[in-house]
Amino acid sequence: MEKIQTPIAHLDAIEFAKWWKADARSSMKGVAVRYPQIDRMTGRLLTLDARILQSRAERQKAPPVARESEDLLALSAYITYQSRGLKMDAEIEGMARKNFDAGEAFFFRRRGQLNLNCAHCHNANWGRTLFAERISQGHPNAYPAYRLEWQTLGSLERRLRACLSGVRAEILPYGSPEYADLALYLSWRAKGLPIETPGVRR
Ligand code: HEC
Repeated sequence: MEKIQTPIAHLDAIEFAKWWKADARSSMKGVAVRYPQIDRMTGRLLTLDARILQSRAERQKAPPVARESEDLLALSAYITYQSRGLKMDAEIEGMARKNFDAGEAFFFRRRGQLNLNCAHCHNANWGRTLFAERISQGHPNAYPAYRLEWQTLGSLERRLRACLSGVRAEILPYGSPEYADLALYLSWRAKGLPIETPGVRR
């Protein structure tokens, strides 16, 4: 068997071909349910979007794509789609615990001119109507989602920014660690719910 130059030296050509063409339906299945996830090298909590950006930069040596760009959302939605129907199952213990605690604290901290926390709407008032919108339990399992108001796909972060803006609170920039912490708390809160990406929302 002819040996070809591969990143994994011991693979022969046929194995390499199999590995290279590994179908995302199997290779990416179940990946998204475990995000946000601690990066063991840096100890940082990464959302799936952050992991994609990191892999592109460090492993592919590819030019960066912007947060919330069509390219990143498409990739993120495609990977998450491979876990559609699987239950959310992020790890909150060990190295992730401090992030989880920070996310939980964020959820219950009042903010903005309306002085509301996330729980005021999504724990205490779901099912009620606010500005012609029906408040849900605020689960993250449909993101990236297509929102009619956006006329495009958007990330969970974009949705969270809309909620922050709704209470007239400071809107953190994309990629802020606070969003990852919050996403981890939301994933835990949604534990057991199936991934529905790409969802459609008003
Ligand atoms: C003033 C009420 C209000 C507050 C406070 C609020 N939200 Fe929301 N949120 C909404 C409304 C309205 C929507 C859109 C309808 C829906 O899906 O609930 C929404 C949507 C969401 C969604 C998307 C749910 C889905 O299925 O698409 C998530 C996740 C969410 N909020 C999380 C949060 C978090 C986290 C906070 C705190 C930082 C927060 N929200 C604060 C009203 C609120």
